Amino acid sequence: MTRVLSMASGSAQAALQETPSGFDVHRVRADFPILQRKVRGRDLVYLDNAATSQKPAAVIEAISRYYERDNSNIHRGVHYLAERATAEFEAARKTIQSFLNAARPEEIIFVRSATEAINLVAQTYGRAHLAAGDEVLITAMEHHSDIVPWQLLCEEKQARLRVAPINDAGELILEEFERLLSPRTKIVAVAHISNALGTINPLATMVRMAHDKGIPVLVDGAQAAPRLPVDVQELDCDFYAFSGHKAYGPTGIGVLYGKLALLEKMPPYQGGGDMISSVTFEKTTFNKVPHKFEAGTPDMAGAVGLRAALEYLNGLGLPNIVAHEHELLTYATDAISRIPGIRVIGTAREKAGVLSFVLDGVHPHDMGTILDQEGIAIRTGHHCAQPVMERFAVDATARASFGLYNTKEEIDALVRGIQKVKEVFA
Ligand code: ALA
Repeated sequence: MTRVLSMASGSAQAALQETPSGFDVHRVRADFPILQRKVRGRDLVYLDNAATSQKPAAVIEAISRYYERDNSNIHRGVHYLAERATAEFEAARKTIQSFLNAARPEEIIFVRSATEAINLVAQTYGRAHLAAGDEVLITAMEHHSDIVPWQLLCEEKQARLRVAPINDAGELILEEFERLLSPRTKIVAVAHISNALGTINPLATMVRMAHDKGIPVLVDGAQAAPRLPVDVQELDCDFYAFSGHKAYGPTGIGVLYGKLALLEKMPPYQGGGDMISSVTFEKTTFNKVPHKFEAGTPDMAGAVGLRAALEYLNGLGLPNIVAHEHELLTYATDAISRIPGIRVIGTAREKAGVLSFVLDGVHPHDMGTILDQEGIAIRTGHHCAQPVMERFAVDATARASFGLYNTKEEIDALVRGIQKVKEVFA
């Protein structure tokens, strides 16, 4: 059973109350312009936060301000705006460093997304370290972006992709994970939180198990960065990847954290401007970390927007966000499980605010379409995690994923929407 906090009855009443820490969801909602709009003539109920989250005004304004006041190219010019843009970009790096509690700003590399971060590690660290017969260990709950890059690498190197299994609740079977860590395992890649099941993995234990055998660990933190406080030094993971757009920041910007000693030994990823120290037609020498991995003009406005998003999260307090989303998850799990014909997919003891389910006799896409008519946005499909669907013998699920601005009233609306779906298919 999912860990459930005791629920107050009278959902609307409860949602209107401020938490003792001062987290007032209704005040928070006012920070998000898009939440004020109507969709199909209804109040928008946005429950697709695992796909992408909405942006607070602070983020939108930071991007606007950057283009209105500071825009230029970074690390290249001596003029005023070049210095301003460089300072803004590097300040964003420092904010991310402190958000992840990385030891140094050089350990933060700007990329396009978590997907690009994982590809970067596969194509640099992975390519340099894997040989025929070696192994990469992932888990059965990975997103395609933490499967396919390793599959491509394994095919190229004639190496083997091993998969640690999960149980019927969607939890990693830790003993199997440990057993699969072999002398041939060159890297472990694992989601912090499953995007399809909501499972929170016991990362610190997994990292310790891998490190005991001298194996580095990459963490796909796409779902976790906006949902949990992340301390990469405490976790002791070697790489940590996340995307800005799921963390209330802009699209097109993401982060790779890597331990400096590893990054320094890795070959570059892409070639181009800014990643070089000198170029002749005979030979190129490379810039130092992190610039070695940041070829070409980066998404500077994206970095500025991501900084604003992380500052916004810090302002609210990650522990408050964790508590709020846990309360939503508990409330929603309880309410949805009571609907006859519903099966919740993913009932891990440690879960984040992601709720996947199926309804007897109704395809999730039909459910999504009917809910959309009510202004309710959920995701339906395989969630870029087809092996998870296979594990639970379903083609697809409906998935409601909560964000810091969702309310219990919105979950009530979802439940009413599902009742309507049932009536249509009765
Ligand atoms: N990875 C995103 C999701 O889970 C797109 O929906």
